[in-house]
Amino acid sequence: MLQNIDKILEEARQFKAGTREEIEQFRIKYLGKKGVVTDLFQNFKSVPPDQKKEVGQRINQLKQLISEKIEILTSAVSQESDQQELKDLTLPGPPLQPGARHPISIVRNQIIEIFTRLGFTISEGPEIEDDWHVFSSLNFPPEHPARDMQDTFFIEKDPDVLLRTHTSSVQVRVMEKEQPPIRTISPGRVFRNEAISARAHCIFHQVEGLYIDENVSFADLKQTLLYFAREMFGKEVEIRLRPSYFPFTEPSAEMDISCQICGGKGCNVCKYSGWLEILGCGMVDPNVLEFNNIDSKKYTGFAFGMGIERVAMLKYQVKDLRLYFENDIRFLEQFKAAY
Ligand code: DAH
Repeated sequence: MLQNIDKILEEARQFKAGTREEIEQFRIKYLGKKGVVTDLFQNFKSVPPDQKKEVGQRINQLKQLISEKIEILTSAVSQESDQQELKDLTLPGPPLQPGARHPISIVRNQIIEIFTRLGFTISEGPEIEDDWHVFSSLNFPPEHPARDMQDTFFIEKDPDVLLRTHTSSVQVRVMEKEQPPIRTISPGRVFRNEAISARAHCIFHQVEGLYIDENVSFADLKQTLLYFAREMFGKEVEIRLRPSYFPFTEPSAEMDISCQICGGKGCNVCKYSGWLEILGCGMVDPNVLEFNNIDSKKYTGFAFGMGIERVAMLKYQVKDLRLYFENDIRFLEQFKAAY
């Protein structure tokens, strides 16, 4: 038995391997289920008691030697193949993952770009606001439902501190500081106490627009919005203004654009109407001008407000608002616009 073990030991020592397969064959031959070493352990029962100690030690030695040998040979082979790879300098490098702008940023920047071309400035205001800037100075009556806990996130009550529900609050902040002519847009984040779904979110983005000067008319509003729609969605786009109601504008309207998917013929995106709603607008209510110390006899103005998510949805056919906030790289990397 001892002689046999010595023979096997010598054989294993002599072994040289060039490839991973040869090493694997070697492992199976000696350490596999039916391998030589396994066999020796099985025959251990029949070793006479006085030899058991020595034979046991030798089989263990043998097993250890073979395991070490496999380890050394394997690491030599993998080092060699690493070097092989490094040698081929014509191989392409690992792919770079360039970043892409978020679709909301792309669309916001496009909106800004279009209105700055018309001479609009950019203004910003705080996200944490008070009742005056979000509601009262915009002519919301005290019992208006938007003031309800259902819609607004209140931080403190009496006096009210709240997260702004729209960027119209920035209109007020601008009018406080400046006298007409005022021509500004205000992009920003807004907050509403809404259950999150494909069509609603508690955080979203708006762009507010405000133009106040002498002799500003509804025709100016309409032409400005038509220009915007065509720059944003394409030269063939038509707009339609429907009468609506907002406390801070009189008259008020909602604007639709002709559906770009079906060209106005009717499809499931526009629910077979040919039109898609995009923003609210109107002539600034004289009360709002007076609340903010602007002479409503001398000046008139228009205002509008649109949701950036909504514009991006129409532009990119995004069907679920939640995608904008999930940061799924598969969604985000589809937007490789230059803006
Ligand atoms: N503030 C309105 C909203 O959040 C949007 C809006 C409508 C803004 C009409 C305006 C406007 O300036 O004139 O739904």
